[in-house]
Order: sequence, then C-alpha cells, then structure tokens
Amino acid sequence: MRFQAAVLRELEIVARKIRLRAYGSRKLDGAFSAVQRSADKKRIAQLSRDVAAIFRRDPFSAAKYVDFPIWLLRNIHRAAQLGLHEASGLRILDIGCGPGYFIAAARALGHECRGIDVPNSWFTPLELQVYSELLQALNCHQYVSPLSIERFVPLPFHGEQCDLITAFLVCFNRHDKPDQWGVPEWRFFVEDALRNLREGGRLFLGLNDNRKRFGKLLFYDDELLAYFQSVGTVNGARITIVNKLPAMKGSPAAGSWSSISA
Ligand SMILES: C[S@@+](CC[C@H](N)C(=O)[O-])C[C@H]1O[C@@H](n2cnc3c(N)ncnc32)[C@H](O)[C@@H]1O
Repeated sequence: MRFQAAVLRELEIVARKIRLRAYGSRKLDGAFSAVQRSADKKRIAQLSRDVAAIFRRDPFSAAKYVDFPIWLLRNIHRAAQLGLHEASGLRILDIGCGPGYFIAAARALGHECRGIDVPNSWFTPLELQVYSELLQALNCHQYVSPLSIERFVPLPFHGEQCDLITAFLVCFNRHDKPDQWGVPEWRFFVEDALRNLREGGRLFLGLNDNRKRFGKLLFYDDELLAYFQSVGTVNGARITIVNKLPAMKGSPAAGSWSSISA
C-alpha cells in the first residue's frame, strides 16, 4: 500500500508539472523554484521527521502538509486555475490558509496575499506544530491573522476591498459537523464577502466533500446547489462568485485590509 501511495505521488507530481507547463507562463514556471529557494528546507525536513510516525498512522491528518513538493505544486496549480499568473499586485485574502502554501504561491506570482485561520488555541497540537512550522519555513507567518469565521458574523475589515477572496478545502462551514452550514449561513457569508470585494472581484470556494450528508452531489444538497448557481458558477467543488456591484465605501469603525496581519 505504501508503495502504491508513493507511485501515485510521483504520478501526481509529473501530471501537475505537465499541466502547469501547458499554461506556457514563465511566471508559473518560475514560481516553484522561487518558493523553494526562499523556504527553510532544513526546518521542513526536521518537521517531516518529527511527524513521520503520525503521517504513517494517519495520512489524512495535518501531517500530510510536510510533503512540500506536492502541496506547493497543488497550490501553484490552484493559483494558475484562478489566472493569477496573468495579473500582478492583486489583493488576495485566503480564508483557512492552514500551512500557507497558497499564500506562498500567490506571493511568488507577485500578489499581495494574506491569510486568516483560527486562533492557535483552537488547533490540535499536531495542527499547531505543522501549520506554525510551515508558515515560518515558507516565510508566510507574518501575513496570517488569527480570525475564526462564524455563522452570521461579518468579516471585520470592511473598508479596503480585496480583488479575490479564496478558501480551499473549506472547513469554516462546520464541515462534517452536525450543524454544517445550510443556505441561510452561506447566503450571509457570501453577501458579506462580496462587500469586501471590489467591483469585478471574485470569491472562490473550494468545498470539501461530505458523501454521508450529500450523497452523490458530494458538496451540497439540491437547495445549496441552487443557491450557489443563483449567485455564481458551480463546477463540482469549485464555486466562483463575481461581485457585480460597485465596491462598498469603507466604514470608519471597521478594520481594514492592512490591519489583516499578525
Ligand atoms: C482542510 S484545511 C485546508 C487548509 C488549506 N486551505 C488547504 O487547502 O490546504 C481547513 C483550514 O480551515 C481552517 N478553519 C477551520 N474552521 C475555520 C474557521 N471557523 N475560520 C477560519 N478558518 C477555519 C482550519 O484551521 C484549516 O487550516
């Protein structure tokens, strides 16, 4: 089984490199080496040794993130799918940024990317160890703020608009919990997120699957799917919603983009 996993991993690496090459973008071609050059590889190697036993027991735990090449390639690919190699200087907020690979990829492509994730005290010891070590090793810890997304609570930094808000492998919707978000929570979140985007800015959600709850649809029930389709485009797990309204004027009481820092 371990042999099979190793083969699949190598195949994924080759496939992702081919797919990234197909974009024909020098920026994308250079992103992997740019992050690799500046990353603290010794620190990642040490972390990898520290959590190796946990990874063997539970390959789906946060220990999976120590596989630097795979996760960096996945995140450069995410950035490519969002067209981030075709622009520069975008203000991007990554919600639930975890170990920070997407922040590192987006910054390597020339964007002003910041992240939020839950406060340290909410992480399991393994998540805390893996996320904080990787954020440090990727030089991204200074771009991450502790902030938890809660149902029916607005984001706290209206005032300066983002060009793009992302959330990959979304968990802030209480994924897999009995009180996983339904349409009212998502509607509130989406409308609030759009208020933090400039006109034409995008909200991208990469949903986690939940077969137990959603059956064949995997990511939503019919009602939630209809809601996402009514506000944006849906492609399996991938939801893209464009802000069609003029950007909101800032509220003096609220925080700002530049205040999203640790
Ligand atoms: C499955 S991980 C995905 C990490 C990263 N986005 C990726 O794709 O590799 C989900 C992340 O969402 C974060 N998260 C969970 N609940 C959250 C909440 N209420 N607010 C903000 N982040 C949350 C977790 O701490 C974790 O970092």
